[in-house]
Amino acid sequence: MNFGAPSTSSGMLAEDPTIQLSGDPDQANGPTPSPFTRYNQPLPKEWIPLYRRPMRTPTRKLRICTIGAGISAMNLAYKIHHEHDLIARGIVSELVMYEANEDLGGTWLVNTYPGVACDVPAHIYTFPFEPNPDWSAFYAGGDEIWRYFKRTVEKWELDRGVRCGHKVERAEWDEERGKWMLEVRNKDGVVKDECDILVSAIGFLSQWRWPDIPGIDGYEGHLCHSAVWDKAFKWDGKRIAVIGNGSSAIQIMPQVVEKAEHVTNFIRRPTYITPGLGSSMIGGEVQYHYSEEEKRKFREDPEELKRYRKQIQAGSNRSFDMFTKDSKAQVAGKKATADQMRAKLGDNEELANKLTPDYEVGCRRATPGPGYLEAFTRDNVSLVTERIEGIEAKGIRTGDGTLHEVDAIVCATGFQVDHRPPWPFIGRDGLTLAEAWKDEPTSYLSLCAAHFPNFFMFSGRTSLPSLPLPPH
Ligand SMILES: Cc1cc2nc3c(=O)[nH]c(=O)nc-3n(C[C@H](O)[C@H](O)[C@H](O)COP(=O)(O)OP(=O)(O)OC[C@H]3O[C@@H](n4cnc5c(N)ncnc54)[C@H](O)[C@@H]3O)c2cc1C
Ligand SMILES: NC(=O)c1ccc[n+]([C@@H]2O[C@H](COP(=O)([O-])OP(=O)(O)OC[C@H]3O[C@@H](n4cnc5c(N)ncnc54)[C@H](OP(=O)(O)O)[C@@H]3O)[C@@H](O)[C@H]2O)c1
Repeated sequence: MNFGAPSTSSGMLAEDPTIQLSGDPDQANGPTPSPFTRYNQPLPKEWIPLYRRPMRTPTRKLRICTIGAGISAMNLAYKIHHEHDLIARGIVSELVMYEANEDLGGTWLVNTYPGVACDVPAHIYTFPFEPNPDWSAFYAGGDEIWRYFKRTVEKWELDRGVRCGHKVERAEWDEERGKWMLEVRNKDGVVKDECDILVSAIGFLSQWRWPDIPGIDGYEGHLCHSAVWDKAFKWDGKRIAVIGNGSSAIQIMPQVVEKAEHVTNFIRRPTYITPGLGSSMIGGEVQYHYSEEEKRKFREDPEELKRYRKQIQAGSNRSFDMFTKDSKAQVAGKKATADQMRAKLGDNEELANKLTPDYEVGCRRATPGPGYLEAFTRDNVSLVTERIEGIEAKGIRTGDGTLHEVDAIVCATGFQVDHRPPWPFIGRDGLTLAEAWKDEPTSYLSLCAAHFPNFFMFSGRTSLPSLPLPPH
């Protein structure tokens, strides 16, 4: 039956009294239309105009706070201020970013140990909105990354709303008001704040961890952690202990062996030392420095730079096949990596047995570590796999009773990675995130957690955490 409705959708919209109420398809409020008809038919008294706007479209301006102001937070700032223009469009009232450190940069501000570098090719460890034709090398050092980060923040004014020297110490969800209540410590005391949306951009590697070794406090030599490096510390002619063989220790070792009298690396489990991500682009070498001519070409031809970056990205993505259990790539990768490691150790059988893992590549973060294995072929470097029993005034005591006397102990012992904030973070019904995640940090797509409304996370557990920079 035809009620005289227009045959086209635009015609239907034009005659729909819901729209005629205010002239705005999103707003159905307004006086009852007269005559009260639709498509020439009288409308029932109970007629309820329908909004054409998606359900739950926010009508109030949202105030957003982040905890942290590293790469992740700056990505968000770019999206809010530029890509989606949410403040100018009246959707977000303010973006405030609380940063505990006195400056921006997160990882790349804090980690200044010798040899600190990124093992993801620099051209893809880059903000997608700010390609950098001037990267000096295929893999960039920490300081160069930090300077690029600062330059980018300044250029795009991403630091409006950043409050450095402000450490969030408490966050509590107010169910009645639908707001997050914050307590933030700065040099003058504690300030209170509130927001509609809370974003954790605290990084999963921002709380460094001292080893839980008995006696550590009684050590009389120089004690440091890779993430709080004392730049004044000189290791020339000294006996150094490096505890750990994660990515940090692996970068520190080749730097200190050159001038130290002796370096002893204490390890518990071996680590795969693999070819660098994307290194096939540089002929399998460990590093490549761009010439001025290449940088000029990248500057003058942004399309060429984009093509180059895409090429690195595609190649790097393919290498993930190696992390699929029992895949051909994994079986082949395991053998090839073990062979390469043995060769770098000068075919020393004993060292190869101690330093080559028996688990599959990918079960623990693989790292390229140029110069790490080679260091063990030097006379002034030793490897200790014996369990550490304790630290004493003069050095490290191992389970076999040996006291390894050293002038300095470098703890490259990593970070607190359980994703549980060490301060009260309280959601619905008084539940803390630490309690909710005491067994397993469960989340929705690594983005949000049940009982913590309007709370979002960067690099949440089970995401690919080391890559907060989205694909280009
Ligand atoms: C030595 C090192 C080398 C690395 N190398 C690589 C690499 O080669 N490739 C790679 O992909 N990734 C690497 N990573 C991982 C690196 O952390 C990420 O790539 C990225 O920098 C994380 O950025 P983010 O903004 O998420 O976190 P972060 O850079 O950690 O920033 C988080 C910020 O939150 C702040 N914060 C924390 N708690 C609070 C609080 N309560 N209140 C206020 N502020 C707070 C911190 O001070 C920090 O500035 C490396 C990490 C380290 C430590
Ligand atoms: N090149 C890079 O890109 C780069 C460089 C640095 C850091 N990172 C990132 O930062 C993350 C952390 O790296 P990290 O090297 O700082 O930490 P990590 O990978 O957690 O390594 C810590 C090391 O310390 C050892 N350790 C911890 N406590 C110990 C104890 N009580 N006694 C003896 N040994 C102890 C660990 O041994 P066990 O393994 O036996 O626990 C491990 O070898 C990496 O996974 C990576 O994501 C990347």
